[in-house]
Amino acid sequence: MNANETLIELPSDLCPQKMPHHVAVIMDGNGRWAKRRGLPRIVGHQRGVDTLKELLRCCDDWGIKVLTAYAFSTENWGRPSHEVEFLLTLFERVLRRELAEMMRKNVRIRFLGDLKALPPSLQAEIAHAMEETRNNQGIQFNVATNYGSRQEIVQACKQIALKVKRGEIDVEDIDEQLFENHLYTQGISPPDLLIRTSGEMRLSNFLLWQMAYSEIYVTPTLWPDFDREEFHRALLSYQQRERRFGRIKEDD
Ligand code: FPP
Repeated sequence: MNANETLIELPSDLCPQKMPHHVAVIMDGNGRWAKRRGLPRIVGHQRGVDTLKELLRCCDDWGIKVLTAYAFSTENWGRPSHEVEFLLTLFERVLRRELAEMMRKNVRIRFLGDLKALPPSLQAEIAHAMEETRNNQGIQFNVATNYGSRQEIVQACKQIALKVKRGEIDVEDIDEQLFENHLYTQGISPPDLLIRTSGEMRLSNFLLWQMAYSEIYVTPTLWPDFDREEFHRALLSYQQRERRFGRIKEDD
């Protein structure tokens, strides 16, 4: 996607200069969407994948550079085993099926989380997709999988403590930048906008450090129904916000 195409595709009431660089999504409500239709929860997850694909396409069309989706939390292991198995197999299938399209669209995919605990076949598919798309220059697509923010922070502390113990760094070297370099999101700028579907007003252990100053948009719409119009509404709301990062306005 080049800059001209982006401007053509962008709805006229959105300001191209005020677009978020990084959008994060908590894709909530797949189960409820299915239940309301008398369908098994897994059908909601299948539809959820289509929604995510469409959002990725839309971000690309509208010039958003980074999209991060919360696909599987460290707490999701507590779901019934058949649902966990379904989700992990679904991720594997989606990766295999979509890799060619991601290459075509120049998408760079990255997985965030404790990947070692995932089934070996999924780990292999993840490694393959990350390696294949590594040099792509288009949108960066991050998928948080077996991700938990507290776990991420603890593992960063352990890595840093080990470096101090080995004499590789001094305690005085520890600052916010060094800490960020030990998070799964190393090298990724923080989300400007977090969207959560299905009405819950929670962060649910997602990017707690990274979202210190993110704008939050919550919609009652269930994830499978989150479409371009909904995303457009979220972006309009974002563009009306005044981001102060703890400061005050010049004329206040
Ligand atoms: C929550 O709905 C949603 C999930 C557990 C995420 C499912 C993952 C995807 C749709 C995308 C996977 C993508 C890739 C690229 C591998 P819920 O079950 O919590 O809904 P409920 O709150 O209504 O029960």
